[in-house]
Amino acid sequence: MTVSSVEVSEIVDGLSADQKQISPKYFYDERGSQLFDEITRLPEYYLTNTELGIMRDNIDEIAAMVGKQASLIEFGSGSSLKTRVLLEHLSELAAYVPVDISEEHLCVSADEIRSEFPHVDILPVVADFTRQFALPAPMVMPIRNVVYFPGSTIGNFEYDMAIELLRVMYHEAGRNGALIIGVDLQKDRQTIENAYNDSAGVTAEFNLNMLRHLNRDYGANFDVEEFTHSASYDEDKGRVVIELVSQTDQVFEVADTVFDIADGEAILTEYSHKYTLDGFAAMASATGFKVEKVWTDANQLFSVQFLTRQ
Ligand code: AVJ
Repeated sequence: MTVSSVEVSEIVDGLSADQKQISPKYFYDERGSQLFDEITRLPEYYLTNTELGIMRDNIDEIAAMVGKQASLIEFGSGSSLKTRVLLEHLSELAAYVPVDISEEHLCVSADEIRSEFPHVDILPVVADFTRQFALPAPMVMPIRNVVYFPGSTIGNFEYDMAIELLRVMYHEAGRNGALIIGVDLQKDRQTIENAYNDSAGVTAEFNLNMLRHLNRDYGANFDVEEFTHSASYDEDKGRVVIELVSQTDQVFEVADTVFDIADGEAILTEYSHKYTLDGFAAMASATGFKVEKVWTDANQLFSVQFLTRQ
């Protein structure tokens, strides 16, 4: 793998800040992606199964709202079951366009999807979807673009960045476009904290694996044994704060830059924002979207929302 100096300086900058931090994108090396897959199957991690259930229960209505001959643009590589539910039910799809920064990831999942849906025009795009990118031209002219952003991945972004990302989706959706987005909802602290502190310790392993990834690929020398996983729900801010907490006063290096970290000091690795329906609708409307329809599960744990341009 080639180490980009842009990424190295991003990591060094984050660790130089008052609140030490590393972007959640560094979770996802091969092992990290495997661990995330495991997380989605944990009994405590309600998000994935609840979202899949919502998709299955409402797929006919969702398909009717999308309409015929749409181009489905997924932000992310699209290896999930939820994507397959959509592809199975959308009629006369003009194209399926998965967008991901990792070419390898994208190619593997695009090939899988191609073999399962041989009649669909699959047009993967390698791009950083937090910035505008060019869409490929499908063989059949799409009637509309529908962006798909499942998994409550929007929750990783703080307000300003979430707005920016929604604006990119607004742009990519184009005239008459729509967005189908998975949004996790605020709920009691225990349910949320259990989802990020599973009893099998998979989430802890997933968090700590980020340090192993940096050690292997970015010239870091973290003593992984001297950090522990922490995840707690900040009710005021409506977000889970996921950190790696140093268990001692220690020193580590990343690409020849030396850092001190104190006993009990934390490195922030991820936020996972949880929304109220009103809060999310307000954020959406600040970007020009309006919420046309919200589907939830019986316990109001999670939502799938259909947004159109105002
Ligand atoms: C992929 C960002 C939606 O926030 O729930 C799961 C990532 N981190 N367990 C989430 C995650 C720890 C996940 N997202």
